[in-house]
Amino acid sequence: MVTAIIGGQWGDEGKGKIIDLLAEKADVVIRAQGGNNAGHTVVTEHGEFKFQLMPSGILYPHVTCVIGHGVVVDPRVLLKEIEQLHERGLEPASLVVSERAHMVMSYHPVLDRLEEDSRGDDRLGTTWRGIGPAYSDKIRRIGFRIGDLQKEAFMRKKLDFVVQQVKNPVMTDLYKQDRFDPDMMLEEYLGYASQLDPYIKDTYPIVQDALDRGARVLLEGAQATMLDLDFGTYPYVTSSNPTAGGACTGSGVPPTRLDAVLLVLKAYTTRVGYGPFPTEETGEVGDQIRERGREFGTVTGRARRVGYFDGAVARYAARVNGATSIALTKLDILEQLPEIKVCVGYDFRGEFHDHPMANISHLKHCEPRYVTLPGWEQPIGHCRAWEELPANCRSYVECLEDVCGTLVELIGVGPRRDQFVVRGRSFL
Ligand code: IMP
Repeated sequence: MVTAIIGGQWGDEGKGKIIDLLAEKADVVIRAQGGNNAGHTVVTEHGEFKFQLMPSGILYPHVTCVIGHGVVVDPRVLLKEIEQLHERGLEPASLVVSERAHMVMSYHPVLDRLEEDSRGDDRLGTTWRGIGPAYSDKIRRIGFRIGDLQKEAFMRKKLDFVVQQVKNPVMTDLYKQDRFDPDMMLEEYLGYASQLDPYIKDTYPIVQDALDRGARVLLEGAQATMLDLDFGTYPYVTSSNPTAGGACTGSGVPPTRLDAVLLVLKAYTTRVGYGPFPTEETGEVGDQIRERGREFGTVTGRARRVGYFDGAVARYAARVNGATSIALTKLDILEQLPEIKVCVGYDFRGEFHDHPMANISHLKHCEPRYVTLPGWEQPIGHCRAWEELPANCRSYVECLEDVCGTLVELIGVGPRRDQFVVRGRSFL
């Protein structure tokens, strides 16, 4: 069985916790895109772990954890995460990194920041991790794959070319900054090569073998549909495809082998960085949800923008990903609100739109159309069955299901691992 876990909003839907829950039953967990712009915290008997690149199943010794070729890997970050495990006496023996995965090179974060600064008011609000520049180089065919670390002569020649012909002219002429030294970079990267060598493999046979033997495979999405390079609010997006199609491309799992797409949606909406956000609440309600939901970024610490559930976004996400069911997270955060609004679409220039428009200036200036539901105003953290949820809370969930046209099978009612209401299990 193959299940993809996909974010349905602008990221931070709580995918990490869902994957952590499901990874226990998985044989293989594969990360397919993104890089260390993602982040999640896992709490176990060994303490708290903060991961940005490591697939979520890494703390289960029986799970093969694959960093797929669609991911961009900063070797410095990956080595720190391996070290974090070693410090607690854990060995990531089941970690495999695709030799086809591209690397975030040391110039990428530097250029990410310089590019953002030079955009001024039009900046995108990136995480400054070099993700966009690394993917751009992959597309320009001047990127370095992690397997290149095993080819010293090739690395030397290509680094000379890329650094001297492409990167340094931009650094010195455009940004008036110091140049990069290809010899120093080579030495640095060859150092990473020896440390990462045991993990670097061709993941094609590993993934195909898992499919052939009917293994339980989880595709771990990072970021989300509205940050997708094609489906999201371009240019305010990340530089990969966090949708189900991207999960297939970046992992090597053929689309016809996907059995389930579990769309993760937060019971309200958040967004980090700039770009349109039709249901954003900048007043008291927004502040209240942000505080209660602890909506501050795990990677950058930035306060997240907060708003009501955007049904137009969620329906669109359900459709473009072919969601088979929904995991609804953080429902407990809304338990103090006397009434809760749900956006069902947008009004713009006399027309109703039931999905986000491609033109982001229209999306920025549209008027969300809301239905207002009564809140339930009581704690739900103890609920484990659908019937135990207050009637108004069930009505809220049913309203979201109607808007998305998709069943909600998992409901998060608190931060702990066991705080879930499970209504169905069509996924792994
Ligand atoms: P980048 O991925 O660093 O290039 O950032 C591009 C946009 O995606 C920015 O608005 C980021 O805040 C956003 N972004 C990237 N990764 C995440 C994530 O894991 N959660 C939420 N937003 C993200």
